[in-house]
Amino acid sequence: MTDIREYFILPADELSERIRRAKKEKNTVLLVHNYQRLEIQALADFLGDSLGLAREATRTDAEKIVFCGVDFMAETAKILNPEKKVFLPDRRANCPMAAMIDASALKEAKKKYPDATVVTYVNSTAEVKALSDICCTSSNAVMVVRSLGDRQILFTPDRNLALYCQEQTGADVIPWEGHCYVHDNFTVDDVINGKKEHPGALLIAHPECRMEVLNKADLVASTSGMVNYVRDHQDEIREHGVIIGTEIGLVEQIDQDNPDVPVFPLASTAVCATMKLTTLAKVAWCIENETNEIILDDEIRKQAYNAVKRMLEIG
Ligand code: 13P
Ligand code: SF4
Repeated sequence: MTDIREYFILPADELSERIRRAKKEKNTVLLVHNYQRLEIQALADFLGDSLGLAREATRTDAEKIVFCGVDFMAETAKILNPEKKVFLPDRRANCPMAAMIDASALKEAKKKYPDATVVTYVNSTAEVKALSDICCTSSNAVMVVRSLGDRQILFTPDRNLALYCQEQTGADVIPWEGHCYVHDNFTVDDVINGKKEHPGALLIAHPECRMEVLNKADLVASTSGMVNYVRDHQDEIREHGVIIGTEIGLVEQIDQDNPDVPVFPLASTAVCATMKLTTLAKVAWCIENETNEIILDDEIRKQAYNAVKRMLEIG
């Protein structure tokens, strides 16, 4: 295997070219999340949110997937594709929210709420998914909760998404006390200041934000929901612009793709540090050397598959 330090000294255009070539030669697709660096987004075979990426992982004919995102996303691709090799360019690229619940804590909670249906956000480990009845993502969480009728729901691990689903559906939701540090940090003051600085601008917020922020948003959407909304409503938002309440990588993408629309971040400090661990050098090293493969215990994978599959059948 080539030493990764040999890649760190190469210029960006050479790294991009090598990644393009390796994708073809090695029958590999690059699935890229919306928060990735723009130079990584530019190489994507598919760019999207967690749900779109999970669906795309089931559609691709390629033998291998290099996942540019965080660990739970690559694991979800592996859960859905046991026969494919899935790689994560930097194994430290994790989602801190996923670490806010583990299998033993969930087993205890299930004993406490034996009648509850466990709905688990995909931002979770394979072990936690395996103990859950159904998964959801930011774009289908409300639909998933609604599909469960009047059953009591133990919603893990994102407290804010749980409360948003409760508010939208009126369901009996018990929220787990987890959160995303990037979205939980947005405040009502950020909203007040943003609206003062950009009068008339539309505020779109991600459902991982706190309820007090979501209550002030004009629209709540997943990352791809935001991309699609801005693309499809140019005429309405061209004059006053749009304030984006999520991670900065998506703000940069929307700004780049909509040159006629003024695009503002709700907070320019909203950076997901682990999303930014993926660099061109690490992707080139990973794809050329087929390193950092995701390996899951087969029993856990099969149980987690049931929860992910059930989600994909709903929406
Ligand atoms: P999306 O599924 O909306 O892209 O969200 C993933 C995520 O991690 C948000 O912080
Ligand atoms: Fe996890 Fe938050 Fe980063 Fe999304 S933005 S991957 S929820 S830490």
